[in-house]
Amino acid sequence: MNLSSKMSLLGTESAFDVLVEARALEAQGKDIIHLEIGEPDFDTPEHIREAAKKALDDGFTHYGPAAGLPELREAIAADVAQSRNIDVHPDQIVVTPGAKPIMFFVILAYGEPGAEIIYPNPGFPIYESVIKFSGATPVAAPLLEEKDFSLDIDEFRSLVNDKTRLIIINSPQNPTGGFIPPEDLEAIAEIAVDRGIPIFADEIYSRMLYDDPFSSISAYDGVNEDLIILDGFSKTYAMTGWRVGYGVMPKDLATQVARLMVNSNSCTAAFSQMAGIAALTGPQDESDAMIAEFKRRRDVFSAGLDQIEGFSCRVPKGAFYLFPNVTGLGKPSLEIENILLQEAGVASLSGTGFGEYGEGYLRFSYANSLENLEEAVARIAACEKLRD
Ligand SMILES: Cc1ncc(COP(=O)(O)O)c(C=O)c1O
Repeated sequence: MNLSSKMSLLGTESAFDVLVEARALEAQGKDIIHLEIGEPDFDTPEHIREAAKKALDDGFTHYGPAAGLPELREAIAADVAQSRNIDVHPDQIVVTPGAKPIMFFVILAYGEPGAEIIYPNPGFPIYESVIKFSGATPVAAPLLEEKDFSLDIDEFRSLVNDKTRLIIINSPQNPTGGFIPPEDLEAIAEIAVDRGIPIFADEIYSRMLYDDPFSSISAYDGVNEDLIILDGFSKTYAMTGWRVGYGVMPKDLATQVARLMVNSNSCTAAFSQMAGIAALTGPQDESDAMIAEFKRRRDVFSAGLDQIEGFSCRVPKGAFYLFPNVTGLGKPSLEIENILLQEAGVASLSGTGFGEYGEGYLRFSYANSLENLEEAVARIAACEKLRD
């Protein structure tokens, strides 16, 4: 195939590869506990499903505006204004099939050869992949275990220069479960505002913070003129398969991102968007109960893993991931991922799937039943091959 050389720059998400491998083992009769894929194991709340069914019956089955249905954009603007305490106009919102396209479009809009884009590492693998695809240079901002996976601000400052076109942050984080505390957000905001660099804040886990209130970088002076917030429905409302997410951004950028929508997806499925309205404006009790259950699982699973020789676990602050340090096992993370899958029937991800600074760590998603999490701890503790 004579494809464009750009295609070789695209990376992937190892979660989808491990899922395929785990399913193949299951097809051979092996029992696998799935802790690799990052999605809630809960059903979408009933009133949201009912809203989608009604929308289908009401004819929301056609093309719609590229930037999203006006009624959903209004509901999002109201929700974001209230949750972040900022002014937001519906013209600043673009709705996309899942939140991921916001990442893709915004990075494409800023990235080009000669430009640098700072991104968290270990971090969601699509940041680095799309930065490279855009032709820009990815500049890794290391997340540090000793800082509960926040950044060292002096080190961060040293990465910023005249070529920096965009700064990506993610809090609460995938894969570490860490979050960036308000004092670090403020320092990042100051550095960015000082140099006039836009910030892309991936806040998809904004409602999943267990011990602290959520802080958005939008709280800091001067940031909002140049801020892009990514959020969506996939995680908070267990709607990963519905494919509906959004970005909040300056109006001119929203026009460009909507143009990228016209050139790719045309629009987001209208009945999924109607479900999104029900999610934002309807009762929040099922989502709240799901998040409370994640907290319970976090506590049990992190305490259990921390007891196992070779594993050292910080209690994650948010999202539904645990990112234990496994350097005590004396093996590369990828080898440990393979041993756990093949020998213990526990699917996890090597930290290296999230960037070079992920070596020495594994990522487990605890979006699984307490019973399965306890069984996973028992299997890992009993896995002799880990200690060969
Ligand atoms: C940090 C982060 N951002 C964005 C996304 C994308 O979410 P969506 O499924 O809505 O596209 C994910 C999904 O795993 C994520 O972990």
